[in-house]
Amino acid sequence: MVATPTPPEVALLPNGSPRRYVYVQTFGCQMNVNDTDRIFQVLEPFNYRPTDDPAQASLILLNTCSVRDKAEQKMLSQLGRLAPLKDYNDDLILGVAGCVAQQEGERLLKKVPHLDLVFGPDHIADLPGLVERARAKERVSETRFTKRKEFAFIEAAPREETRISEFVTIMKGCDKVCSFCIVPFTRGREVSKPADAVVREVERLVAAGAREVTLLGQNVNSYGKDLQGDRIPTFAQLLREVDAVAGLERLRFTTSHPMDCIDELVGCFGELRTLCEFFHLPVQSGNDRILREMRRFYTAAEYREKVAALRRQSPQIALSTDIIVGYPGETDAEFEDTLTLLADVRYDSIFAFKYSPRPGTRAAELPDSVPEAVKRERLARVLALQDAVTRTRMEAYVGQTVEVLVEGPSRMASKGQTTRWQLMGRTRTNVIVNFPVPLGEFWSDRWIGSLATVNVEQAKSNSLYGTLA
Ligand code: 5AD
Ligand code: SF4
Repeated sequence: MVATPTPPEVALLPNGSPRRYVYVQTFGCQMNVNDTDRIFQVLEPFNYRPTDDPAQASLILLNTCSVRDKAEQKMLSQLGRLAPLKDYNDDLILGVAGCVAQQEGERLLKKVPHLDLVFGPDHIADLPGLVERARAKERVSETRFTKRKEFAFIEAAPREETRISEFVTIMKGCDKVCSFCIVPFTRGREVSKPADAVVREVERLVAAGAREVTLLGQNVNSYGKDLQGDRIPTFAQLLREVDAVAGLERLRFTTSHPMDCIDELVGCFGELRTLCEFFHLPVQSGNDRILREMRRFYTAAEYREKVAALRRQSPQIALSTDIIVGYPGETDAEFEDTLTLLADVRYDSIFAFKYSPRPGTRAAELPDSVPEAVKRERLARVLALQDAVTRTRMEAYVGQTVEVLVEGPSRMASKGQTTRWQLMGRTRTNVIVNFPVPLGEFWSDRWIGSLATVNVEQAKSNSLYGTLA
């Protein structure tokens, strides 16, 4: 429950314009997290400062996700909780951004009477103008897709405090046709950010203190296919260009479609200095009929061959994946194929979901035939199998010496430790490692952003513990 009875003060800046606060609640994937940063960025010149307190805000935005169901319900109940704030703050504009906004548009304004503003991901740059219209008492909905040729990325401005690990959007949208997926409807067609702009953004982040960069897109492997002109790098070539940025220690990317995971990309692992030994390669199902129904355009055998090629190229590579259980018509035997694939590939980690029909998708035209109880049971079996695999994979780190990029104090540090601080960071394979340093050492700040060599002594389910080598 949001509770506070005092309307926020709107201070006047020296130039006479009001200083206001914006509160954004972000749901869903890294793309949304990144979009939220861009929202703050475009509002900043209009005197909006970010706040963590919705009661202080004169603009509240929910940046929403619609990839699986319940997202909309969650968002609607949150809007209901925020509604009372409007009663004692006339200045407050309430808006919905992101994928649910794109999908629902005007409908959302009709459904939620106290909502002022709905806008899709293509309209972040227009936000200041949209907010002004809402302040003039117009109920605003802006969800048109910008034409591919006209779409312009907002170049990320360096933040006051650059993180050790930063994200850089390299493309938006998705041109694949996976039957279950709403993303092509909410994010539109693929548009790639020109390579020069990507490299420039990485250079700026590194100059401001970042050591690791993750390149972001719904399907980064098809990067560049929409670009025009005389310089159209493939995704692998883009990786090479980013790898050459001086001062960058680690490079990651997400997400990838197996069809676009080609030899040229596989060849980058182990060859590019900064490219980390980690690959998230969603398989969705281990059964060929289901994969065909899903319109994934690969067979389980072809997928396994890609995994084998990756491991030949980079034997230590850590792999993760996405799994959907209970796709329409999935039989017990077809589900067993997914378990077999998981047992054979032995991923380091997975994300598994119960299928849920998404409005407008092809799969949503089929009866959602697998009963909820069966979906639940299948999900539990997937997770149990993976838990056992993850445990053995984590235990295999014990006794090894790993390179850790230090991100900061670990959560353990706040638990009353007086003489030693725990720091946390990640291995190149994306596993969290905690290790202690003497108190004085911690404050020297020299650790944050540095590469520590750690002997791993203990493995827990989600993280490793060790001591400095
Ligand atoms: N139902 C369940 N899971 C889904 N995903 C995407 N759409 C659906 C859906 N309709 C999962 C896929 C995808 C991940 C981001 O979300 O596994 O890779
Ligand atoms: Fe959705 Fe990914 Fe398929 Fe694109 S490739 S349609 S984002 S599941």
